[in-house]
Amino acid sequence: MESLGVLLTYPMDSYLEEELGKRCELFRLWENPPEKRGEFLRANAASIRAVVGNTAVGADAETIDALPALEIVASFSVGLDKVDLAKCRERGIRVTNTPDVLTDDVADLAIGLAIATMRLIRAADRYVRSGAWKAKGDYKLSSKFSGKAVGIIGLGRIGLAIAKRAEAFGCPISYFSRSEKPQTSYRYYSSVVDLAANCHVLIVACALTEETHHIVDREVIDALGPNGVLVNIGRGPHVDEPELVSALLEGRLGGAGLDVFELEPHVPEQLFGLENVVLVPHVGSSTWETCKAMADLVLGNLEAHVTNKPLLTPVL
Ligand code: DGY
Repeated sequence: MESLGVLLTYPMDSYLEEELGKRCELFRLWENPPEKRGEFLRANAASIRAVVGNTAVGADAETIDALPALEIVASFSVGLDKVDLAKCRERGIRVTNTPDVLTDDVADLAIGLAIATMRLIRAADRYVRSGAWKAKGDYKLSSKFSGKAVGIIGLGRIGLAIAKRAEAFGCPISYFSRSEKPQTSYRYYSSVVDLAANCHVLIVACALTEETHHIVDREVIDALGPNGVLVNIGRGPHVDEPELVSALLEGRLGGAGLDVFELEPHVPEQLFGLENVVLVPHVGSSTWETCKAMADLVLGNLEAHVTNKPLLTPVL
């Protein structure tokens, strides 16, 4: 792959960056200040045939337009909302992602966030560390997760893996899905509001598209209600964040476990003081085992592209 010029749009997993550095010519977009990036792309455009991005920065229309020699976008993510797929299709640029290898980790985190939120694990940890346990010896009660009705938005690979895990906790499962409606015994709702009204824990696990933008809006949040918990391991823009913040501050929603945010890494600071909210920095797939597997898929796809072999995980 020595002849392959690869643009990294964002700092990557260290193993991936090291391996790419050994095998390709690397161009690091993020090392340039934002106002110099256009100039950097123009200066190196003739050499850049591949883009590797992730959930923070992918390949937008501006980047693709600046790269006439671009042949492939290999994303270090399963979600491709940061890649301009229409533009790639129009230009005949190939696109790959990293499905399957991260399914278990993201599903584990969804259940972890639900339990951490309902059992107030973050507040309990603070209670111990602050010495309050020794001083007072009491602690307030939390809510049970086992057996609670779980509603899942999106029953693709990750949604199904979450359902399987929740079933093991004795939770009845229902779901809403626009595309995948697998053969399952789970109850299907054709409206997200009805799903929210009939579950205790609502988990967002669908892809971000124009149709799923703000799929969790005020009406859905109110249907979930003061005993309901929202978990988002999808994308921040799935949820109308100002509505979510108001509902949590006003006690109209029981709690939230959030891995993703509308304008990440910006997180609404009003949430910082709430005990019934757990906030993590988009780490669904961030275990070293899974990051290595994702990196190997990116490397394998680039290798397949340059050697004219079938791509491992093609999207386009
Ligand atoms: C992805 O890879 O798209 C996910 O956001 C991982 O959490």
